[in-house]
Amino acid sequence: SDRYAVIGHPIQHSKSPLIHGLFAQACGHSLRYEALEGPLTPADGFERQVLDFRAAGGLGLNITAPFKLRACALADERSERAALAGAANALKFEGGRILAENFDGIGLRRDIEVNLQCPLAGRRVLLLGAGGAARGALLPFLAAGPATLVLANRDEAKAHALVAEVAAVAAGRQGQPGAATLQACGYGELAAQGRFDLVVNATSASLTGQLPPVPASVFSPMGTAYELAYGKGLTPFLALARQAGVRGVADGVGMLVEQAAEAFAWWRGVRPATTAVIDRLTVPLD
Ligand code: ATR
Repeated sequence: SDRYAVIGHPIQHSKSPLIHGLFAQACGHSLRYEALEGPLTPADGFERQVLDFRAAGGLGLNITAPFKLRACALADERSERAALAGAANALKFEGGRILAENFDGIGLRRDIEVNLQCPLAGRRVLLLGAGGAARGALLPFLAAGPATLVLANRDEAKAHALVAEVAAVAAGRQGQPGAATLQACGYGELAAQGRFDLVVNATSASLTGQLPPVPASVFSPMGTAYELAYGKGLTPFLALARQAGVRGVADGVGMLVEQAAEAFAWWRGVRPATTAVIDRLTVPLD
């Protein structure tokens, strides 16, 4: 049957085989989806693994940490969002070429807007972090038409550089909001910024149980706090949001399922329903 896989290191806890298995079942597709441990050595081990998988008849791959940048570099063609992120989370083998996509940002936007019913148009949005995860979220967030999109990072220069890069891409597009919408700052400036309707933690702080130095004053009780990490329970960031009275707190499980649905649609031509899969994977936050 048709073969797909996810490559990462470590990969044993990946939910992707389960998610794609449920999608295939629901859509009546016959396919095989494996988890492959990506090699850290030799230096070109990952690239060889991708090419070997294609040679063995594989049709597509999901890519996770730490190989997203290398997957993007390896591809023959990349979508605009993969190019801007400099990272790919999905590859497709087609007509002898390797195509790269990055569905993390649109998966995040869809989880927030559709599943959590928190539309971004006209809202004040705060994105924490300026690494790969934040990069992927910026264009999809901007396209949703927020009133304000503030990017805060510990390393302020990195936030300013990323905002300048994204503003240049957005300026080249029709119907994109002006540069005034998008601002960069350090955590020290957030206390003066007032409240946000949506605060997204796209830093890697939660992976080590840390809290980005965000003041509780950024949260609105009627707003939403979103943690990109998943399966970590109530992280320090989500706990702070709860203490600040935020009722809508969510982790990244919905984003994980939504990006998977985008990849499935790209490979298979059908977008699977996601609600039942998200419900099945959701672990209560506390
Ligand atoms: P990812 O691909 O998960 O985004 P990354 O590219 O390594 O990972 O980026 C990690 C992000 O988390 C960075 O924005 C980093 O901030 P700096 O650029 O200032 O280093 C941020 N980060 C990590 N730990 C953090 C912490 N304890 N507090 C605040 N930000 C943190």
